[in-house]
Amino acid sequence: MNPVEEALKIKDQIVAWRRDFHMHPELGYEEERTSKIVEEHLKEWGYKIKRVGTGIIADIGGGEKTIALRADMDALPVQEENDVPYKSQVPGKMHACGHDAHTAMLLGAAKILAEHEEELMGRVRLIFQPAEEGGNGALKMIEAGALEGVDAIFGLHVWMDLPSGVVGIHEGPFMAGAGEFEAIIKGKGGHGASPHQAVDPIPIAAQAILGFQTIVSRNVPPMETAVVSVTSLHSGTAFNVIPEEVSLKGTYRYFNPEIGRMLTKRMDELLKGISSAHNASSTLHIREVTPPTINDPKMCLFAESIAKKFGLNYGDVEPTMGAEDFAYYLREVPGAFLTLGIKNEEKGITYPHHHPKFDVDEDVLHLGTALEVGLALEFPG
Ligand code: NI
Repeated sequence: MNPVEEALKIKDQIVAWRRDFHMHPELGYEEERTSKIVEEHLKEWGYKIKRVGTGIIADIGGGEKTIALRADMDALPVQEENDVPYKSQVPGKMHACGHDAHTAMLLGAAKILAEHEEELMGRVRLIFQPAEEGGNGALKMIEAGALEGVDAIFGLHVWMDLPSGVVGIHEGPFMAGAGEFEAIIKGKGGHGASPHQAVDPIPIAAQAILGFQTIVSRNVPPMETAVVSVTSLHSGTAFNVIPEEVSLKGTYRYFNPEIGRMLTKRMDELLKGISSAHNASSTLHIREVTPPTINDPKMCLFAESIAKKFGLNYGDVEPTMGAEDFAYYLREVPGAFLTLGIKNEEKGITYPHHHPKFDVDEDVLHLGTALEVGLALEFPG
């Protein structure tokens, strides 16, 4: 069978599913309606199903090797500003990242794969996961055994940075590791007119913020990539009172885990050093949000061979400092996070992911389905 031809046959169905999900967006871990629809179809098509909250693990086929394909199902707390017939019907919630399309594309692949089960060389596992947007739904799926017996995994994200219909494949680090930090600098409050009797935490915080700027410019090797951004700063209430403390928050991003560890180590050293130099104390809390998404070179080659074999347009895609919880799967098994271009200037589909006017070029969604079917069909290659 030819995956592109098969996907083309159900193109309208894929778009209809996408529109239905789009009209009924659900936030992370609340994907009740979406997952129910997915589950009903998968059951009807003969999949063996395991429920993980609002997540679904579904198997079909047999054989020694197992390939997993993953779609995320959650929406964002965004008020949609598109004026389209399939506009979100839920105030304040919107599929502004394209996870509606991911769910629809993988559902399309599920249908085709079930119809061609006898042509599969191995087992295919579909993972419909909740809460990609900051909820680390991937971790819940892995804890529930989503990767048990899995030899390779692929995820597909619609991508505004690529022209419509182009498959983006990038070897190695593709999306950043992301962490969150919160620092408290504690001084000694006092009268604004008598700074010598206080320990003013405000200039100390100012030095710490500037100190943090030297981490990327002076400590990160020039050929490496990293970000340290202070994004929140709070202290004081009155014009004549030196406050007791300052709180800072921010994010750090990296591709190389060693660099990630260095960023947090330097933040800690700078904060402690600058605070103690001024007789203040400090605390720093670090939370790793997501590790970097690192694509396996062999799996990228496999994906390229599939795109080529079935006549899909493909090419490299620029890495981004955005983060994605697909990283957790890639930490456990080899695989790749692939992208499908959906930017179409003629149709006015140009707004970035998470924007209230974000939309996807629906005319290419069947190509995503075709790619997923091709991967599953040809694995282990
Ligand atoms: Ni997304």
